[in-house]
Amino acid sequence: MDLKNYWDLQPDESKKWQENRYKRFGFVWGDEPGPTAKMAARLFAEKGCKNILVAGCGYGRECVYFHEKGFKVTGIDLSEEGIKLAKHWSQEKKLDIDFYVDSVLDMKHPNDGYDAVFSHKVFHQFRYEDRKKSKRQTLPT
Ligand SMILES: C[S@@+](CC[C@H](N)C(=O)[O-])C[C@H]1O[C@@H](n2cnc3c(N)ncnc32)[C@H](O)[C@@H]1O
Repeated sequence: MDLKNYWDLQPDESKKWQENRYKRFGFVWGDEPGPTAKMAARLFAEKGCKNILVAGCGYGRECVYFHEKGFKVTGIDLSEEGIKLAKHWSQEKKLDIDFYVDSVLDMKHPNDGYDAVFSHKVFHQFRYEDRKKSKRQTLPT
């Protein structure tokens, strides 16, 4: 099977796989953000960004980090389980973060745009043709 066909099989299977993973293991990557979130927070602050979209936020570890750094944060993810964990976490900590089940490839959640988009370990899950589409969805025109 060539690489393109491999990716064409991904959308349904990888969503199912991701849902089961969150359901079984919860916070699979722990509750700390990865190093790229820390770099991004510095850059966003330097550029004066206030309103951040975390695209493919999973259970929200990067959203919580950006919120703690003082940004207004919205997190979206295709996974209902991921967003359920994220909402539970932010409610427990009484954090004002908006979470939606939504696709980066066809965003439908209510918004007036964002100053910056952060996405970590997400685009590799898209089919080749969807990668350009995801850029168009998230970048300003
Ligand atoms: C490897 S996880 C990373 C999650 C998070 N960025 C983190 O590092 O904790 C990839 C996430 O991307 C989400 N995802 C994949 N395709 C998506 C899409 N089209 N729209 C929104 N989320 C998507 C998956 O459901 C999964 O939660």
